[in-house]
Amino acid sequence: MRTTILGIESSCDDTSASIIQDGFLLSNVIANQEVHKIYGGVVPELASRAHQQNIIPVVDRAIKIAGLTKNDISAVAFTRGPGLLGSLLVGTSFAKGFALFNNLPLIEVNHLQAHVLSHFIMEKGVDNQLPTFPFLCLLVSGGHTQIILVNDYFEMKIIGQTIDDAAGEAFDKCAKIMGLPYPGGPLVDKYSKEGNPQAFKFTKPRVSGLDYSYSGFKTAFLYFIKEKIKTDPDFIEKNLYDLCASIQFTIVDILLDKLKMAIRETGVKEVAIGGGVSANSGLRKSILELSLKMKFKAFIPEFRYTTDNAAMIAITGYHKFLKNQFIGHDVVPLARMTF
Ligand code: KG4
Ligand code: ZN
Repeated sequence: MRTTILGIESSCDDTSASIIQDGFLLSNVIANQEVHKIYGGVVPELASRAHQQNIIPVVDRAIKIAGLTKNDISAVAFTRGPGLLGSLLVGTSFAKGFALFNNLPLIEVNHLQAHVLSHFIMEKGVDNQLPTFPFLCLLVSGGHTQIILVNDYFEMKIIGQTIDDAAGEAFDKCAKIMGLPYPGGPLVDKYSKEGNPQAFKFTKPRVSGLDYSYSGFKTAFLYFIKEKIKTDPDFIEKNLYDLCASIQFTIVDILLDKLKMAIRETGVKEVAIGGGVSANSGLRKSILELSLKMKFKAFIPEFRYTTDNAAMIAITGYHKFLKNQFIGHDVVPLARMTF
C-alpha cells in the first residue's frame, strides 16, 4: 500500500498544494500573490481573500500533475501555524472539508518544522542526499531567524533566535529605505552581484549567546542613508550596488557568527539552511565555504524549497503519518505556534 499525502500551505501570501508519495515528490504547485507588491508588504485581509480564490484550482492542479485522483490520497496535511490567522484559516478549513468529504485522516503541521524537514523531500531519478540526525538548521525567513538543533524528525530544539527583527525583515526593510519594492531581499541579492561588499561598513550587534538582533542594524542603516542624502540627494542611485552588497555582507556575516558558535558548541557534523533567506546567494556561498573550513556537511536547499511551499508540508505530513500522528476536526489554526 502506498502512502500518499496531500499537503496544503497557506500561512502567508503563497497558496500551495503538493503530493508526496512514499516520501517522493509528485507535484508542488504554488500560486504567488502579486497583489501585495504595491503596498510594500503583505496585507493580511487581501492575502486570505486570494487564498480563497486560489486554493481549489491549486489543489486540483497538484492532484492532476501527480497523475492521481483524490481516491489515491491517504491523508491531508495542512499548515496549522505559525502565520497570518486569516490565511491559515483558509488552508485549515479547506483541509478539514477535504478530509471529511473523502473520509481521510487529518495531519497538522508546524510551518517552521516543515521548513527544516524540507531537506527530506526525495525526488525520483535524483541522488537524494538527506541529512542524518543530529544536525543544525539555520532557519531564516521574513518572520524567523533561528538556529535549530534537530535530534529527530519531531525532536527539535531552538538554541538561538532573533530577539527582534528577522534576517529577511532586515533585507526587506533596508530595501524599502532605498526605495526598492517588496519583498526587497531578492533584489538586494541581485544588485549585490555588481557591488563591493566592503564599500560601506556597518557595526554588528552585540547579543549574548546564540541569539540574533537585526533592529539596530536596520536603524543604523536608516540614519546612515538620511545623513548621506542631506549632502547628495542622488546618493542611493549612485551607490545602489555597493549599498546592496554591503548590506548583504553584514546580514550574512551576523548570521554566520552565531552559526559558527553553535557548530562549535554542539559539535554537530551536518548543517542545513532553510527559509526564504536561504535563497540568498551570499549566504549559500558563505555556508559552503564555511563547511570546507569547519569540516561539516552542508545542506543547501533547491531554490523552489527555500520559500513557502506545500511540498515541505506534505513531507512533514508523511513522517507524521508513519507515526500515526493525526488530529481531530476540532483543530483550529494558531498564529503563534512553537515546537
Ligand atoms: O520563508 P519565506 O518565503 O516566508 C516567510 O517569511 O515565512 O521568506 C520570505 C523572506 C522575505 O523577507 C524575502 O525578502 C526573503 O525571504 N528572501 C531573500 C531572498 N529570497 C527571498 N532574502 C535575501 N536574498 C534572497 N535571494
Ligand atoms: Zn516560511
